[in-house]
Amino acid sequence: MRKFVIDTDTASDDAVALVMALQHPEIDVRAITVVAGNVPLGQAVQNALYTVELCAADTPVFVGCDKPLLRGLETAEDVHGNDGMGDIGLPLHGRQPASGHAVDSLRSVIRANAGDITLVTLGPLTNVALALSLEPDLADCVERCYVMGGIGSGHGNVTPTAEFNIWVDPEAARIVYESGMPITMVGWDISWKYATFDAKQAEDIRGIGTPLAQFVVDIQSTLTEYAIEESHLPGFDLPDPITMAVAIDPSIAEYHDYRVDVTTGDGLERGITVVDVLGATGNPPQIRVAVSADREAFVAMLKQLVA
Ligand code: RIB
Ligand code: CA
Repeated sequence: MRKFVIDTDTASDDAVALVMALQHPEIDVRAITVVAGNVPLGQAVQNALYTVELCAADTPVFVGCDKPLLRGLETAEDVHGNDGMGDIGLPLHGRQPASGHAVDSLRSVIRANAGDITLVTLGPLTNVALALSLEPDLADCVERCYVMGGIGSGHGNVTPTAEFNIWVDPEAARIVYESGMPITMVGWDISWKYATFDAKQAEDIRGIGTPLAQFVVDIQSTLTEYAIEESHLPGFDLPDPITMAVAIDPSIAEYHDYRVDVTTGDGLERGITVVDVLGATGNPPQIRVAVSADREAFVAMLKQLVA
């Protein structure tokens, strides 16, 4: 069994990534920590609790930060729905999270499994930045951190230059990217290139017919509209799930180590992951950037885990 701890701003794509980890026979999800992002914190916590219950798992869910380190919270209900899960009427309320703050849980779970734990981040990096700030040597205790965030190459999804998770809390992202923790970055370019699902491809998943297969597609209703109209994609894309697939089986992607800086300005200078492809900064590479992925391997893993 491999031990995972997952930090998430649980909305419709995060939920699929959680299902993948919770359903995988060789993954032991030690904790799920929740951060505000796609939706306000309380809703993200309920969405995570609902998903854990759907998988009949007993993984504890901890409540984390309700806003970025310095900036006001920017959410994305237009992308994932008001409830973050496609507004399809799921009962996403009334469940109880574990006691204790998510930042303290990140610290204790990582410390307790030092050297034998994988951290997967699916949302803004506020919780992780605080944990690393309180306990800098946590960076040496994580076997590897897989970040869904930033852009390896190409355009952004929240501004032309930035991806949502980094853009929401760029100060937190800079802290994490400078922490020395071994990081694999799966940018939004990997999602729109290798993890989009048009109507037929979506039905190919849903048609498996299990409750989980129907769930992982049905909650993408708002994302489907947004992806087609705003992101100019053939259907919904799944950035968090392809990041989870990479964390589960790193062989499904190819990588290059680069120096990556995070900008903390405003407007078009907010939340850019500046990938130093040519080594022009002279600073040593510190991030393993996914540069391509195997769509077939990703889809096969997803199908297997919802079947
Ligand atoms: O930019 C995509 C990321 O932002 C995904 O993690 C999605 O869930 C949102 O958090
Ligand atoms: Ca997310």
